[in-house]
Amino acid sequence: MWEVQDILTGRHLAAKSVIAPSEPSHEKCPEVLQEQNIMQALRNPGHPNVISLHYVYPTDDGHYLVMDLGGPSLRSILQTEKPFSAPEVARLMRQLISGIAYMQRLSIQHYDITPDNLLWDGECLKICDFGRATVQRIRQEEVLFEYMPPETLSGGCSHNVDIWSAACVMVELLLGKKLVPRQQLNRSNSHTPLSRNDRNRMMLKQVKTAFRHIEHCAGTEAAQLFRNMTRPLKSRATPEAALAHPFLTATSPGPVAD
Ligand SMILES: Nc1ncnc2c1ncn2[C@@H]1O[C@H](COP(=O)(O)OP(=O)(O)OP(=O)(O)O)[C@@H](O)[C@H]1O
Ligand SMILES: [Mg+2]
Repeated sequence: MWEVQDILTGRHLAAKSVIAPSEPSHEKCPEVLQEQNIMQALRNPGHPNVISLHYVYPTDDGHYLVMDLGGPSLRSILQTEKPFSAPEVARLMRQLISGIAYMQRLSIQHYDITPDNLLWDGECLKICDFGRATVQRIRQEEVLFEYMPPETLSGGCSHNVDIWSAACVMVELLLGKKLVPRQQLNRSNSHTPLSRNDRNRMMLKQVKTAFRHIEHCAGTEAAQLFRNMTRPLKSRATPEAALAHPFLTATSPGPVAD
């Protein structure tokens, strides 16, 4: 990622180099263009909590995506600072879910909502990195396990992945630790993955423990919202339902557009 300056406007922007694999043609390998296509689809009308694409510069072996410059990632902030307070988390979650709601209205799932891909300048949260984003219901093979809901860990499709991942981010912001550490997805003392049933049981246990900790440090409403976002797919909160939750409506929104 490079910080660049638009010489016409003087504006500071970010440039990401996307290298195309040398072998397959675009027909055989449509994902080469996926990140660019998704960012182009997200550009209109655009949303304050979603990084916007400005230009695409072709290079010999790929292209540069030139986009809004966001603040530091929540990952880098979490590495250096204490967990966030409940009102700060309400503000961040409102903006995050507002961006997710916008993407879902365009039938786009981000599939990689993690603190690494959320940029925060202290005022405005922006979702970046659309390298794994996909149009809804298309199965995605490459997943970052810790942020995936049970239904996709079992290899299935899901139309509401990002809300589960956002709940995982909420846990990290409030408690400073992951909802499901990667090693928990394996059998004890081995690299063999847990069976589906064991994994679902383990995840439910982690959700219940996180619920109690969130209730303790941020109150019942925060815990309820977290619980609604980590239910099984059929009953999991939609972005709109999450945005209407009292934990989020009680906070002043900051830069969001609903
Ligand atoms: N528009 C942006 N403005 C500011 N920083 C950005 C922007 N986009 C990305 N970054 C920073 O660069 C990092 C890497 O970019 P990105 O997530 O898009 O690529 P990636 O494919 O995940 O790369 P990596 O494998 O290095 O994480 C992000 O985690 C974020 O910290
Ligand atoms: Mg990334």
